[in-house]
Amino acid sequence: MTSVVEVDNPLVLDRITRLRDKTTPSREFRQFVQEITMLLAADATNHLPLVDVDVETPLQVTTGQLIGQPGPCIVSIMRAGNIMAETLRDLVSDASIGFIGLARQSVTLEIDDYYTNLPDDVGDRHCIVVDPMLATGNSLSVALRKLMDAGVNQITVVNILACPEGIRRITSEYPDVRIVVAKIDERLDERGYILPGLGDAGDRIYGTDDH
Ligand code: URA
Repeated sequence: MTSVVEVDNPLVLDRITRLRDKTTPSREFRQFVQEITMLLAADATNHLPLVDVDVETPLQVTTGQLIGQPGPCIVSIMRAGNIMAETLRDLVSDASIGFIGLARQSVTLEIDDYYTNLPDDVGDRHCIVVDPMLATGNSLSVALRKLMDAGVNQITVVNILACPEGIRRITSEYPDVRIVVAKIDERLDERGYILPGLGDAGDRIYGTDDH
């Protein structure tokens, strides 16, 4: 059964408002994406398996927990997911990063599947798929299919904004996937943008927005 967790706490909502603001420059936009990713990290990693280990404190030996091996694979849906993947990677010891390159055609919204690079043992890892926007769900659906075909069976998706249309699509196609999202927005427009949204996340992260 899919679970959808909306992490709309005050720190997250504050930064989302700054991301929405069309006057926010690219440098700050990137910083807010990184900060929101850190704020989502606890929920995104809730299901990672732990192993017990002995650890010696200055006072005594006790039992602690470490993330089990092999560590998770953080999968970036390029290009907008890259900055979220790097941010999560800094928090999760022993994670590897995989890349799935998907581009959305602006008129048809069809997906151009141009690049995949995943660790050989990805099927043994919990995958955390990062993409700032869950809009139509077209690219996420292709990415999840690739991971499942590679043998992955534990998947958590992390988004900054999602819309009900995209969530409905993914939860019906992939009932076992968990979704952790900062904010669920109102709806999708006819061009496939989330409303009220924040515009094109990739363009704003990389400063390629010319409007
Ligand atoms: N991708 C984006 O970057 N923004 C949207 O609103 C929808 C998809």
